Amino acid sequence: MIDLSAHYGSLKINTPVVAGSSGLTDNIDTLTELEKNGAGAVVLKSLFEEEIIREMQSGLNAMSSPSFIYPETLEFYDYFNGPKESTSGYLDLIKEAKSRLKIPVIASINCIDAEHWTYFPQQIKKSGADALELNIFILPADLSKTNDYYETIYSRIIEAVKKQVDIPLFIKLSPYATHLANFLQKISETKIDGLVLFNRFYNPDIDIDKMEMSSGPVLSSYTDIHQSLRWVGILSGQIHCSLIASTGIHDYTGVIKQILAGASAVQVTSTLYKNGIPYLLKIIDDLKSWMQKKNFTSINDFKGKLSQVQSQNPAVYSRVQFMKYFRGFPNG
Ligand SMILES: Cc1cc2nc3c(=O)[nH]c(=O)nc-3n(C[C@H](O)[C@H](O)[C@H](O)COP(=O)(O)O)c2cc1C
Repeated sequence: MIDLSAHYGSLKINTPVVAGSSGLTDNIDTLTELEKNGAGAVVLKSLFEEEIIREMQSGLNAMSSPSFIYPETLEFYDYFNGPKESTSGYLDLIKEAKSRLKIPVIASINCIDAEHWTYFPQQIKKSGADALELNIFILPADLSKTNDYYETIYSRIIEAVKKQVDIPLFIKLSPYATHLANFLQKISETKIDGLVLFNRFYNPDIDIDKMEMSSGPVLSSYTDIHQSLRWVGILSGQIHCSLIASTGIHDYTGVIKQILAGASAVQVTSTLYKNGIPYLLKIIDDLKSWMQKKNFTSINDFKGKLSQVQSQNPAVYSRVQFMKYFRGFPNG
């Protein structure tokens, strides 16, 4: 008998494959379809910090209050009857999802700073969300700013949100940080439940015919898995929270690789856009068949077996040169 249950931070989930935040998790129809096809949990489409602040400010203005938002004001703010849509719609979606689904419902906020919006997670908790994922969306591209400047933003946000709510907290971030291993280890010490590695940013491209800027692909490819695989493998067993793998996991092989590297669970998004939500069931069935073939009965039987600390060949995770392979290449 194969047991696919997994731990997602302190949440127990029935399968290790979770639907990542996207347009597929912003309405009750697709959320139910995701559950029906075996998602272990769903991460709702993100609410943007700007949306929260803008709507609260316009609501407070309409109430003839000063536009500056004070914590005390927000505690009494009526999220459901103010002149706004996104925030109340979001809380309604959480409530509906909680009443219709059995799997954990994880709310998500996209944020870049810890100003003003950090009281809103109280409403998310009240609406019944099982956990909150913060998609901290910072591109450290300002030449005049130091590492410290950027890294402090993460701790400020986590501290502010943890002060407000005690539901499990997951931090989804990008790989753009200096001394990444140490930085992620420090974040893992803030009593969060898990790190989601990694977020996928919008990527710029250039159209050489029109000679103008364009957008890179919105969806990932299966070859995009390697960056998160490396860091999940390096950090597994060395940090103080769960590791959730994300980006480039397109089929059961990606799920297995990430769990072998040490992930507790994975998130999938692009593959569901490309192959449809029912493909999730195939990923899970294929995972089960592989476990049967290998005589594994639970996820823990193989979780972390090939992490850097447990692998027979740990150097592979730290290798950055292709020397041997380039030599073998024709004309290399
Ligand atoms: C259409 C689309 C919408 C997305 N919206 C969100 C979002 O609102 N919040 C978020 O944190 N991530 C969002 N993402 C990112 C995904 O959750 C995921 O991190 C990313 O696509 C990498 O995973 P994948 O390779 O499985 O697609 C979105 C992705 C796509 C393709």
